[in-house]
Amino acid sequence: MQLFLDTASLTEIRAMWEIGILDGVTTNPSLVAKEGRKFEDVLREICALGVPSVSAEVVATDTDGMLREGRHLREIHPAIYVKAPMTPAGLRATKILAQEGTRVNMTLVFSANQALLAAKVGATYVSPFIGRLDDQGEEGMELIRDIVAIYRNYRFSTKVLVASVRHPIHVLEAARIGADIATMPYAVMEKLVQHPLTDIGLARFLKDWERVPKG
Ligand code: E4P
Repeated sequence: MQLFLDTASLTEIRAMWEIGILDGVTTNPSLVAKEGRKFEDVLREICALGVPSVSAEVVATDTDGMLREGRHLREIHPAIYVKAPMTPAGLRATKILAQEGTRVNMTLVFSANQALLAAKVGATYVSPFIGRLDDQGEEGMELIRDIVAIYRNYRFSTKVLVASVRHPIHVLEAARIGADIATMPYAVMEKLVQHPLTDIGLARFLKDWERVPKG
């Protein structure tokens, strides 16, 4: 299972990249706006670190605009995946971009039927937003179960990228189901690393080590 950071913060990306547990980055217009920097500058810097998969979202809402933006984004760096929304215009744009060899991440997916359509138009990733479903009283993880089952039934090659992850249990459940990727905020990835018993155990080992005769 691949682990992505859902952020446009270079500081956060660099920290996880240096540890060696990061497989990719997803951004969206809201995350980019938080950084207060030019989108392309941020993208170039993330790609320059060597991150192999960097999702960058189009903001046009019509197919021609999406194609224009998508073609521009993919030229920035070979690691760029173009993010397009799950709308009729987004599906049309995804089909054309995919035929041109561009990898597309279809975003804002909230139903299994939408995910089926994303696979049919040749999206490389589908991004179901589980946290936002949970927020409104639906079970986001059920959607992941359905999509993984449907893609297996028909041997679709589209990868299931679990998005809108809110806590480590989301990651654990996604892994149990067999989702391909989970993208998460920095704070969630940090929690995957940490365990209080690890800290307690390490402190005890170091303390006991002081009693070992040296030299
Ligand atoms: C996915 O690519 C999105 O950027 C993201 O996961 C949205 O998450 P949110 O619901 O926490 O905004």
